[in-house]
Amino acid sequence: MKDIYILAIESSCDETSASIIKNGNEEISTVVLSQMDTHANYGGVVPEIASRMHVENITLVLEETLNKANITMNEITAIAVTYGPGLIGSLLIGVEAAKTLAYIYHKPLIPVHHIIGHIYANNLKKELQFPLIALVISGGHTELVYMENHYKFKKIGSTLDDAVGEAYDKVARVLNLPYPGGPLVDALAHKGEDTYNLPLPLDDDSYNFSFSGIKSAVINLKHNEEQKGNTINKENLACSFQNRIIKVITKKTMKALNEYNVNKLIIAGGVAANKGIRNEFEQLCDINNIDLIIPAINRCTDNAAMIGAAGYYAYQLNQFAKYDLNAKSNIENL
Ligand code: KG4
Ligand code: ZN
Repeated sequence: MKDIYILAIESSCDETSASIIKNGNEEISTVVLSQMDTHANYGGVVPEIASRMHVENITLVLEETLNKANITMNEITAIAVTYGPGLIGSLLIGVEAAKTLAYIYHKPLIPVHHIIGHIYANNLKKELQFPLIALVISGGHTELVYMENHYKFKKIGSTLDDAVGEAYDKVARVLNLPYPGGPLVDALAHKGEDTYNLPLPLDDDSYNFSFSGIKSAVINLKHNEEQKGNTINKENLACSFQNRIIKVITKKTMKALNEYNVNKLIIAGGVAANKGIRNEFEQLCDINNIDLIIPAINRCTDNAAMIGAAGYYAYQLNQFAKYDLNAKSNIENL
């Protein structure tokens, strides 16, 4: 069979990235240009600045990706691009670049949902086997998804308010840590002990999540202690927060595997880089004979390699877009 080379573009938030993926699982070259340091000055992503930086970077990133791969556009089979969800001004830059390349070089154009990309980051590690449960934990999403085959998604639960990464970033801000705070809270948590009495986030029988309660509890605790003239032990607070998050996420995920009679689990999204979450799932899956895939740390956060992996399967299913493809900031379904 002829090899399929997908040139993929991702620009949904503050990373400008391009990648060339062979046959859905082989990374030929990937470039990720992060704007993180710039946005850290403002305590979070500034959409206007993000889109302007994507404009400045997209051509350089594409050129470097092709150069590193030593591949010309003639050898590329199709072009995949994240069309949403994300920041509209950021998405538009990637979508316009992809449409331009597809038009000039007469290549099929493949629209990829950002979260489907995160799910397929796992395919770069090990080929997906079905049925499986996907736990999506990112800055904008917290979802449990049942997949019976490639591109067959059934959402079985999601967050009712904040996404888990959002809760991490807000807690980090309360602890005066720079953006993005998730990895820093994770690092602190490993140095601390679980001493603070925080509530468990939505510990019910459903597959839904809610993280605004625990986030508010952390904020209130900090203010109350400060009013009493006490200082907060950041390590212990981070550890107490992280433990509650891990407890609920693992409990609901393991319940889903059991009730859906599935023995394969994949974890997707930026928060999948969390060491506490990775360790706990590794142990639980080992005990319960569950095949677990978690992407490499640098493929958990936003990158175009995952878009190329997802794009390969969309290509097989003839999921092509026309040149009127538009970016979408919100997309309800996967
Ligand atoms: O998937 P991603 O790169 O962007 C979205 O699609 O949202 O996820 C970014 C999120 C941020 O909230 C960041 O703080 C969080 O992932 N994150 C982490 C860790 N690494 C990244 N959260 C907790 N622990 C980590 N180690
Ligand atoms: Zn993402």
